[in-house]
Amino acid sequence: MSPATSISEGYSASASPDAPPVLELRGINKSFGPVHVLRDVDLTVRAGEVTALVGDNGAGKSTLVKCIGGIHPADSGSYLFEGQPVKVDSPRAAAELGVEIVYQDLALCDNLDIVQNMFLGRETTKRFVLDEVTMEQLAADTLASLSVRTVTSVRQRVASLSGGQRQTVAIAKAVLWNSKVVVLDEPTAALGVAQTAQVLELVRRLADKGLAVVLISHNMNDVFAVADRIAVLYLGRMTAQVSTSDVTHSQVVELITTGRGAATRREAPDEPNGTAGADGTSEWKNGERP
Ligand SMILES: Nc1ncnc2c1ncn2[C@@H]1O[C@H](COP(=O)(O)OP(=O)(O)O)[C@@H](O)[C@H]1O
Ligand SMILES: [Mg+2]
Repeated sequence: MSPATSISEGYSASASPDAPPVLELRGINKSFGPVHVLRDVDLTVRAGEVTALVGDNGAGKSTLVKCIGGIHPADSGSYLFEGQPVKVDSPRAAAELGVEIVYQDLALCDNLDIVQNMFLGRETTKRFVLDEVTMEQLAADTLASLSVRTVTSVRQRVASLSGGQRQTVAIAKAVLWNSKVVVLDEPTAALGVAQTAQVLELVRRLADKGLAVVLISHNMNDVFAVADRIAVLYLGRMTAQVSTSDVTHSQVVELITTGRGAATRREAPDEPNGTAGADGTSEWKNGERP
């Protein structure tokens, strides 16, 4: 995939209301040896929205992200992109679709500058060879298009950047490539209050530009500040996907900690299959959730 010559190009395909979701996972299962980490997980991600993915430590959030990013392809289930079933079995396959992941550890190189980091691994492909001047301009344009003003020079080494700036560079790197879906794994986990606010503003801007954003976070304040929808993983199962406006902080916390709560029932009051399971958890069976 080539970089956006002008950043606005990457966002031209904003979804109309009846367009299929950009990304849809259905019945995803993933095990590592005997450990069944993801169980029949459904997830719907729409353009122009921030979908928060929440859940306790070990719930399977990062594993789900790695399935989306092609690092750990799912054992079973479907992966639909813009309504079409696709096979995403490598990071390259995900990138070809326009699915970019900003991993928890960021994977930036301290000894390289911002431009070098943004183009790392993709400086030259068969279809495009970029010179330093063009790369520098594209990096600067991308940051400017995201209204990033905290970075003074794109020739600054990443080692000299603050945590918030590093996160910004990682996000800018993800959107440089005509991305349609950007997944951010705990982008504010290591940040202070002011930097968190900056990164959250950036997250919101990405969605407002028409990208589909998946935000993984532990922090309910962050989630309620920017998310349109909230997906809750509990012990590897998706227990609820709700509109942020339909739930309270405490309902989401209850879903995260117990896997059940008012929100699941409110989501589909007439759903006959949404009954409490034998173990007391209320969950919608695969494919039956509205
Ligand atoms: N590569 C792996 N091999 C074995 N188990 C793993 C691997 N990756 C994750 N797990 C297990 O999967 C579960 C979910 O982990 P993870 O997806 O990192 O959760 P979260 O990001 O929600 O904290 C944990 O029990 C973890 O130990
Ligand atoms: Mg994680």
